[in-house]
Amino acid sequence: MAEIRRERPEDILAIRNVNDRAFGRPDEGAVVDRLRGACEGLVSLVAVVDGRVVGHILFSPARIQADGGDEVTGMGLAPLAVLPEYQRQGIGAQLVAAGLEVLRQTPCHFVVVLGHPAYYSRFGFGQASRLGIRCKWNVPAEAFMVLALDEDAMRDASGMARYRDEWDAAT
Ligand SMILES: CC(C)(COP(=O)(O)OP(=O)(O)OC[C@H]1O[C@@H](n2cnc3c(N)ncnc32)[C@H](O)[C@@H]1OP(=O)(O)O)[C@@H](O)C(=O)NCCC(=O)NCCS
Repeated sequence: MAEIRRERPEDILAIRNVNDRAFGRPDEGAVVDRLRGACEGLVSLVAVVDGRVVGHILFSPARIQADGGDEVTGMGLAPLAVLPEYQRQGIGAQLVAAGLEVLRQTPCHFVVVLGHPAYYSRFGFGQASRLGIRCKWNVPAEAFMVLALDEDAMRDASGMARYRDEWDAAT
C-alpha cells in the first residue's frame, strides 16, 4: 500500500518524472506543469512508497455547457500515472479512490475521464453519452466517461463537456 497525500512543492520534479515515464512522452507532464501555474482549484495527489513519489493523479476544473443553457461545474481526471515498475499493485486504484473522496467533500458535481472503460467502471464511472454528455475532442464514445457526484445537478446536464484549454495541447 502506498501513502496517498496532497502534492507538495518539493514533489514537482518527481511528479514530472512519473508522468513522463508512465506515458513515455512529455505531453501529459507538461500540461500538469502548465496548469499548476495557471489554474486554481486543482486537486493533485501523489502516491509515496519508501519515501519516493511513484504515482500521481490530477483533477482540474471542467464544465458542462448544458444544452438547456446552464453551466454545470465539475472536475476532469487527468492524468493518472504510476511508474512502470510500480504498476499492477493497486496504486492507481488508491489514487483514484482518494481523489474521489477529496472531491466528495467539495461542491464538485461530476468527474469526467478519458480512459479505459474497464478500469474506470470499477469506481462508478459510466459512459458519458448515456447522460447525453459529449466530449469536445473526437474520441471513442466508450472512452469518455462520467461519474455524477451530485445526481440533482446532473439531471439536466446533457451537453458539451470541456476540460481546461491547457489540455488541447495534449490531445
Ligand atoms: C493506468 C495506470 C495509472 C494504472 O495504474 P496501476 O497502479 O497499475 O493500476 P492498478 O494496480 O490500480 O490496476 C491495475 C489494473 O489496471 C488495468 N490496466 C492497467 N493498465 C491498463 C491499460 N493500459 N489498459 C487497460 N487496462 C489497464 C488492468 O486491468 C490491471 O488489472 P490487473 O492487474 O488485474 O490486470 C498505469 O498503468 C499507468 O500509469 N499507465 C500509463 C499512463 C496511462 O495510460 N494513464 C491512464 C490515463 S487515463
